[in-house]
Amino acid sequence: MSNKITNVWVIIILLFSLNNLSAQQIPSLKKVGNKTQLFVNDKPFLVLGGELGNSTATSMENMLDVWPKMEDMHLNTILVPVYWELIEPQEGEFDFTLYKELIVEARKQGLKIIPLWFGSWKNSMSSHAPAWVKKDQKRFPRVRDNFGKSQEILSSFSDEVLLADLKAYEALMRFIRDFDSKEQTIIMMQVENEIGMLPSARDYESLAEAQFKKDVPKAVIDYIQTEKEKLVPEFLHTWKTNGYKTKGNWETIFGKGVQTDEYFMAYYYGLFANKIAEAGKKIYPIPTFVNAALNRLGREPGAYPSAGPLPHVMDLWKAGGNAIDILVPDFYNPDFKHWCDLYGRQGDPLFVPEHAFDNTAAAKALFTFGNYEGIGFSPFFIEGTKNAKEEPLGKIYDIINQLSPIINNHIGKGKIKGVLASKAIPETIVRLGKYELSCKHDYTLSWNPGAKVDEWPLASAIIIQTGEDEFYIAGNGIVITFKDIEDKNLNVGLLKVDEGSFTDGKWKAMRHLNGDQTHQGRHINVSHNSYTIQRVELYTYK
Ligand code: DGJ
Repeated sequence: MSNKITNVWVIIILLFSLNNLSAQQIPSLKKVGNKTQLFVNDKPFLVLGGELGNSTATSMENMLDVWPKMEDMHLNTILVPVYWELIEPQEGEFDFTLYKELIVEARKQGLKIIPLWFGSWKNSMSSHAPAWVKKDQKRFPRVRDNFGKSQEILSSFSDEVLLADLKAYEALMRFIRDFDSKEQTIIMMQVENEIGMLPSARDYESLAEAQFKKDVPKAVIDYIQTEKEKLVPEFLHTWKTNGYKTKGNWETIFGKGVQTDEYFMAYYYGLFANKIAEAGKKIYPIPTFVNAALNRLGREPGAYPSAGPLPHVMDLWKAGGNAIDILVPDFYNPDFKHWCDLYGRQGDPLFVPEHAFDNTAAAKALFTFGNYEGIGFSPFFIEGTKNAKEEPLGKIYDIINQLSPIINNHIGKGKIKGVLASKAIPETIVRLGKYELSCKHDYTLSWNPGAKVDEWPLASAIIIQTGEDEFYIAGNGIVITFKDIEDKNLNVGLLKVDEGSFTDGKWKAMRHLNGDQTHQGRHINVSHNSYTIQRVELYTYK
């Protein structure tokens, strides 16, 4: 072959591979029907996650015991802090060695990573700021509480704080883009961690004081006017009570008190976090979220971290920009459904980046995907388990992992339901197609020995309708009966019930269920501690 022809071939092959590379989209969120799906490596991706304890990923040695546990629990993603103090120990000098090693090892382990940017704030405080920031309080001012006392919390009103944080985050995003955009080990970003003002509802430092006296910024006024129909009701109510004013300072428009103090802070925290996210996205625009420490009912802002990305102030956060894709809850409170519903009021997808790694986590993980068709779930201090192979969470993740192709194919189409059952709420009714499903805790069965105990373990199931009469039902501790809601004269029977598993999306029946396992054809039972997937075919008779 002549040299000329060889060169042409080299160019063609090069262009082809370049084209292939650029053809793969970076991780992104896409609206699918009425839901939002995360796409990674061009495929839908459900985050079966776990967050590492705060100091765990500070060396690779410390991670040695962690990796096998992740595999044993069927995780596909770990949430890992990136500490500002470690990546920029001297101003302008960045070191990503640890993160390179973590990413390389995660790839070997088949895990994705969601970095948590512990920048200016981590649980309200600024403990992860580098020494050169901490020591220069003139350049990097701190907040002051209502007694004028300085706190170890950087001021969100300081341009110097913003610029320093933003430069570090930009360096991080450049590193991720250059090192990882091909493999896509890094799939989403969390900006800061549990932002919130303590111990007063707002900052009283001079920069904050000056802003508080000024008129409410135009961005807020524009947002509340254009989004009036969509505002969360409690915020709309305050604005309405004060006469829907559109000019004046914060107290003029929203009234005097800690509530307004919190609104004020929420907007400026939101503005700051949005600027960080926006700068990062200019470099590498992957999905970005901020997490909130949920408030306890009855407590005043300041007694809880005031003005974080909480449901009642989410409009103020959104008025600060649109570079943050999702505001998300961290769960150390009960009332999982209550809070998830509050976060979904404006149609936002659900992602749970932190949940206490307790005996309710597994059921709630399944409920996140079943009831909310959510993006992911992640208990905190995931490596804390002593017996990873036996963790209920691992068993649930295994089930979700097997089901993921059919979950992903049915998202946003009204074909997926999830139920949680407890002693307090033993039954939930759901509707799929022409069927009504009564889903009960299996301790409601009078012959179940568990029925007599005081505390019922939380039970959950996911139900996916794959055909008019065909369903896949999986979970732990749920009993289901069916009705035809279109024709009340028809009875619903179980035509065929199989227990089995999926491998690469292909169903394999392992046990045909009948007799006692279906109560002689009366119900479906995914009983406690069995963690099964069942394929169910229904029929009707007169
Ligand atoms: C919530 C924080 O986001 C985590 O980093 C951790 O501090 C947990 N609380 C509790 O330990």
